[in-house]
Amino acid sequence: MTQPNVFVTRRIPDQGLAMIRQACAVTIWEDELPPPYNVLRAEAARADGLLTLLSDRVDAPLLAAAPRLKVISQMAVGFDNIDLAAATARGIPVGHTPGVLTETTADFAFALLMAAARRVSEAERFVRAGHWRTWGPTLLMGQDVHGATLGIIGMGRIGLAVARRAQGFAMRVLYHDRAENPDAKALGAELCPLDDLLAQADFVSLHTPLTPETQGLMDARALALMKPTAVLINTARGPIVDHRALYEALVSARIAYAALDVTDPEPIPPDSPLLALDNCLIVPHIASSSIATRTRMAVMAAENLLAGLRGERLPHCANPQVYGRR
Ligand code: GLV
Repeated sequence: MTQPNVFVTRRIPDQGLAMIRQACAVTIWEDELPPPYNVLRAEAARADGLLTLLSDRVDAPLLAAAPRLKVISQMAVGFDNIDLAAATARGIPVGHTPGVLTETTADFAFALLMAAARRVSEAERFVRAGHWRTWGPTLLMGQDVHGATLGIIGMGRIGLAVARRAQGFAMRVLYHDRAENPDAKALGAELCPLDDLLAQADFVSLHTPLTPETQGLMDARALALMKPTAVLINTARGPIVDHRALYEALVSARIAYAALDVTDPEPIPPDSPLLALDNCLIVPHIASSSIATRTRMAVMAAENLLAGLRGERLPHCANPQVYGRR
């Protein structure tokens, strides 16, 4: 029996790859950088399955030129790089990897929160530059995390996991979402309007998906509502924050600090003015990057892919409405 053709857009952890190799004829894009769009489109044109990452643009023209495609499996929880409506219209299920990365991502959001509060990356640069001459009574003073108010925008799985961590630091937790989350309520977190959250929080952490409603949510108006001592943490998606407005807010000390795992665009251009600021910590979209979690994500992405190729329902499907059409 001929094996299905699968295109894997980067070398993923071995455990996932081995599962795919057992059942499929696999082409892997071996470069560190994503395949250019025209390569992805040409590969998709002959593929039965695609395993994608969030840096791959899967749009309607690509899907229209992929007559054999039965499944797209994204190794990420987010899938804003994929035109879900176009995939659904074609009856193509799209897999993703929710759940497995929740705790790891929440760990990292908290790591950024603490690093920004206590100016860890600045302090490390200070030492490496040879500036550490003595114990300084006012040296690199930061802000306390314990007892502070945390504002969580988007109380989904990851937001809730961050709220649980905040409990250990005796933080007051406010959150903004479309509706009350009973699990968050049970933790003592308070649902509140966005503007109230922004005005009261010492730390604002973003955990919403990127949608037309959340794009640019943290614009100049929103940033102006934050306390001048406040810290913004983004482990969600870069375009939720207006980066020009963020630069203005940081450079004029309208807010104290930002810690970004995600930027707009990604990677951040080396000449971005944000990179020149001491009060902006930027890391390269690594919140889910623990060995165990990235391995689990690869296995889950392989399971979704193989299920789709067998014509079975994907264990984790971003567009379950495709099944309603059958
Ligand atoms: C990472 O950002 C993901 O969506 O998994």
